[in-house]
Amino acid sequence: MNKFVYDIPTKVYFGKDQIGNLGKELSKFGKRVLLTYGGGSIKKIGLYDAVVEQIKEAGLELFELSGIEPNPRVDSVREGAQICKDQNIDVLLAVGGGSTIDATKFIAAAACVDHDAWDFLDTSKWAPIEKALPIVSILTLSATGSEMDTAAVISNLETKEKIGRMDRNLLPKVSFLDPTNTFTVSPYQTACGSADIISHIMEVYFNQENDLYMLDCFMEGMLKTVIKYAPVAMVEPDNYEARANLMWASSWAINGFITAGKRHAWSCHPMEHELSAFYDITHGLGLAILTPRWMEYCLDESRVDKYVQFAVNVFGVDPSGEKMEIAKKGIELLSKFFFETLGLKSNFTEIGIKPEDFSAMAKQACRGGVIEGFKPLAQADIEKIYQMCL
Ligand code: NZQ
Ligand code: ZN
Repeated sequence: MNKFVYDIPTKVYFGKDQIGNLGKELSKFGKRVLLTYGGGSIKKIGLYDAVVEQIKEAGLELFELSGIEPNPRVDSVREGAQICKDQNIDVLLAVGGGSTIDATKFIAAAACVDHDAWDFLDTSKWAPIEKALPIVSILTLSATGSEMDTAAVISNLETKEKIGRMDRNLLPKVSFLDPTNTFTVSPYQTACGSADIISHIMEVYFNQENDLYMLDCFMEGMLKTVIKYAPVAMVEPDNYEARANLMWASSWAINGFITAGKRHAWSCHPMEHELSAFYDITHGLGLAILTPRWMEYCLDESRVDKYVQFAVNVFGVDPSGEKMEIAKKGIELLSKFFFETLGLKSNFTEIGIKPEDFSAMAKQACRGGVIEGFKPLAQADIEKIYQMCL
C-alpha cells in the first residue's frame, strides 16, 4: 500500500443540543457572519430561529444568502461571493445538506479573488484556490460528507456541466452534526443520501491497489451500518440511533480516512455527475442505478476476489460456492437493497434519461481522459454502462 498523511482538521460537535457552542466557534473567526441555506427546510424545522438566536446572543452581525438549489448553481456562488465582498464577511455559516455546504465552499474561495467563481471549476482554467474564508457548517442531511471533506460540486446550467473539485482550503473549520436535524428528511432523500454514502465507500473499496485489511473491515462495517439503518430511518424518521449512525457514516465515508493514500480514480461519480448535469436528477438516485451495472461491467476473473469479499462480508453470502456465483449474488443483493428495500427507481427509462444523450454524457464524464478506476473506463465503456441502465 501507499504511504499517506492523516490530517483531518474539521472540529466536530456531534449529538443533540450542541448548538450552544455555535456563537463561541463563529466568534473565533470574526464578527460578520454570512448564513447560507437552501429552499427553506431549515425554517420549517426551527433550526433557522435557533441559529439566529445563537448569532445574536454572541453579538455577531448576521447576513444571509438563501435559495441555494439542490445541485447548486454557480450563480448562487457568484451571489454569495459578492455579498462577502460588499459586506466584508469574516466567516460563512452553511446550514443544510451537501448542496448548501458545497456552494458555501466555493463562495468562501470566490470571496478572496477578483475573477469569476466558475474559473475555479472551468477545466480549461482551473484557477488556483489559494485561500478561502473560514466555513462553519450545520448539517441537515446525511449523504455527501461535505461537512468534513475537501470537495465541492457545482453546476453550470449554461455549459451543461457539473464539476467537482477538492482543495484543503475548502474544508469546514467546524461542523455541527446533530442527528435530530435530519428527522425531517423525507424517505426519498434518506434513500438517496444512503445510496450516496454507500457509493463513496464502494468507490474506494473496489480499487486496483493493495488494501489495508483494517480499512477494508472499517469500510465493510460502514456499509453494513448504512444497510442496517437506512431502512429504519425511512420508516421511523425520528429514530435517533438510525439517524446518528447514518450521519457519522456520511462523514467518515469521504473525509479521507478510508482512502489512505490510494490514488485510483472514482468511477460511478464522474458517470453520475453527467446525469445530474444533463437531467438535474438527485445525485444518490443516479448512483444507485449506476453502481450495480458498473460492478457487473467490471466483473471478471482478475477482479472477482474483491466481489467475493464484498458479498460474503457485507451481505453474508455463503462463501463455499463458486466465486463468480458469489460475486453475482453480491451484486444482486445490493440491487435489491437499492430498488426494493430503499424503493429507488431502478433504471434510466423510469426517470426519463434518454439514450441520445449517452454519447455526449460519456464524453464529458471522461473529459480528463480514461477514468483509471477499478477497471479503466473510456468513453465507449461508459456508454455501455449507461446502456445497461436503461
Ligand atoms: O433546500 P432545502 O429546503 O434545505 O431542502 C433540501 C433539498 O431539497 C432538503 N433537505 C435538506 N435537509 C433537510 C431537507 N428536507 C427536510 N429536512 C431536512 N433536514 O433535501 C433536498 C436535497 O438537499 P441537498 O443538499 O441537495 O442534498 P445532498 O446533501 O444529497 O447534496 C447533494 C449535492 O452534493 C454533491 C452532489 O453532487 C449534489 O450536488 N456532492 C458533494 C460531495 C462533496 N462535497 O464531497 C460529494 C458527493 O459525492 C456529491 O457529489
Ligand atoms: Zn456522492
